[in-house]
Amino acid sequence: IPTHIYADAKDASRAVAQEIADLIRQKQSEGKPCILGLATGSSPKTVYAELIRMHREEGLSFHNVVTFNLDEYYPMEPDSIQSYWRFMREQLFDHVDIPQGNYHVPDGTLRTDKVADFAKQYEAAIEAAGGLDFQLLGIGGNGHIGFNEPGSLINSHTRLMMLDNSTRAAASGDFGGLPKTPRKAITMGVASILGARRVVLLAWGERKAPVIRGAVEGNVTEVNPASYLQTHPNALFVIDEAAASELT
Ligand code: F6R
Repeated sequence: IPTHIYADAKDASRAVAQEIADLIRQKQSEGKPCILGLATGSSPKTVYAELIRMHREEGLSFHNVVTFNLDEYYPMEPDSIQSYWRFMREQLFDHVDIPQGNYHVPDGTLRTDKVADFAKQYEAAIEAAGGLDFQLLGIGGNGHIGFNEPGSLINSHTRLMMLDNSTRAAASGDFGGLPKTPRKAITMGVASILGARRVVLLAWGERKAPVIRGAVEGNVTEVNPASYLQTHPNALFVIDEAAASELT
């Protein structure tokens, strides 16, 4: 997997935001929508901040942008403080001119017996929009992409996933302890992610160094779902020096 290493997350995020902005403008010049797959968590925050700056200072418009987020906790109310819907509004959507209705986040409020239908509709909506032009990813300490935890198959689609203990532990600070942390999430599948025409994965900090090494240099394995990106013809890892520190 091609890997670009930057001195820090800020430099790296600027480069990724520039690629996204170029894509949005190219689609605008063709009179087409730009279909983005987006991630939450700490890693993409600096990319979103840079996109907001470009909107304010460089006239970057999001009028033709349509987005599909990777995942949402389940169950989860959209206005809840930990919801990914709220995260996306606060970190990006409320600060740019993306039309309401153009952004999509999996629905954490559904009855359990409605989730499978919803998952099919979510994938169908991505297809109907023309497929993902660009997918932004973070990576879990256990190699998850979206919430495709270890054991997820390469042909998996959008579905309800049981969260790993390590994933719940990492999130527990936001939920006031492990017992209050959701056990499940709705996530796009590995196949949904690999279907994007371009995939860019972000990783910052030493904590991600071992899993980055496995994903880039190890075998393609369900033990480290990010390693599936080795099979993608147009994937890029954008990482800082700390996350690169175990690459040989
Ligand atoms: C979030 C997501 C997750 C995160 C991953 C890394 O939408 O899909 O896979 O990208 O857990 O999270 P951070 O960036 O907080 O280290």
